[in-house]
Amino acid sequence: MYTDLKDKVVVVTGGSKGLGRAMAIRFGQEQSKVVVNYRSNEEEALEVKKEIEEAGGQAIIVRGDVTKEEDVVNLVETAVKEFGTLDVMINNAGVENPVPSHELSLENWNQVIDTNLTGAFLGSREAIKYFVENDIKGNVINMSSVHEMIPWPLFVHYAASKGGMKLMTETLALEYAPKGIRVNNIGPGAIDTPINAEKFADPEQRADVESMIPMGYIGNPEEIASVAAFLASSQASYVTGITLFADGGMTKYPSFQAGRG
Ligand code: NAI
Repeated sequence: MYTDLKDKVVVVTGGSKGLGRAMAIRFGQEQSKVVVNYRSNEEEALEVKKEIEEAGGQAIIVRGDVTKEEDVVNLVETAVKEFGTLDVMINNAGVENPVPSHELSLENWNQVIDTNLTGAFLGSREAIKYFVENDIKGNVINMSSVHEMIPWPLFVHYAASKGGMKLMTETLALEYAPKGIRVNNIGPGAIDTPINAEKFADPEQRADVESMIPMGYIGNPEEIASVAAFLASSQASYVTGITLFADGGMTKYPSFQAGRG
């Protein structure tokens, strides 16, 4: 636990399931004030709010689509209106779908880029604008992926979105470091969330993914939430512009593990 996270105002996009849910609940455990953004499933969002409150935090839920500028503007405005300020913006909402690149429609490409990259840009921009105007040494955390560095056939739109996020985060970190605003990425490997539910339900596919993870197991959402809490806390006060990979070693060329090559 990080005592300085108590009463901090934290926005989590895509906060009703998967990694967003785990992070929202973790900040609840930290006694933070959490704004849970959700796109459509109000019931799930209310369930997360309840868990945050039971853990000792405060929460509101805000519907919004991160691809829509007005929704992201409203998200930050609502956080400030309801909780008085903003301290941490977590741009987590993301989508993926496999398609051979030569068959990928422009519509599909745009949907993934708009959600994963443009959505994170809008969230970063609105948060940083508030931090600058109010002289707040705030914190932006963008949910990237090991695929900001590992190419991923059939997921060219996803890999491009996360690769773009890497330089977006590094650029924002450099630009706003003099104001004490920190901007970082989390780079999860394979984590058990609804985005992977179908794949991981198939024992063969699950074993195949596990074989690419030096630590030998698929991560839990809580193992990503703890990275978010660390980055948001003052324990990470000198950390900006990085991607903190939490991937069981997936980015460390596992095919070389047995001394091959
Ligand atoms: P998930 O599918 O369980 O959750 C994604 C959330 O984003 C959902 O709540 C969904 O409603 C929301 N969302 C999607 N489009 C949205 C939009 N336009 N506006 C608002 N919300 C929207 O997926 P998961 O696994 O929790 O993924 C969260 C983030 O973590 C994504 O950015 C994903 O790329 C990233 N990630 C996940 C990994 C994994 O293995 N689960 C690995 C690496 C990165």
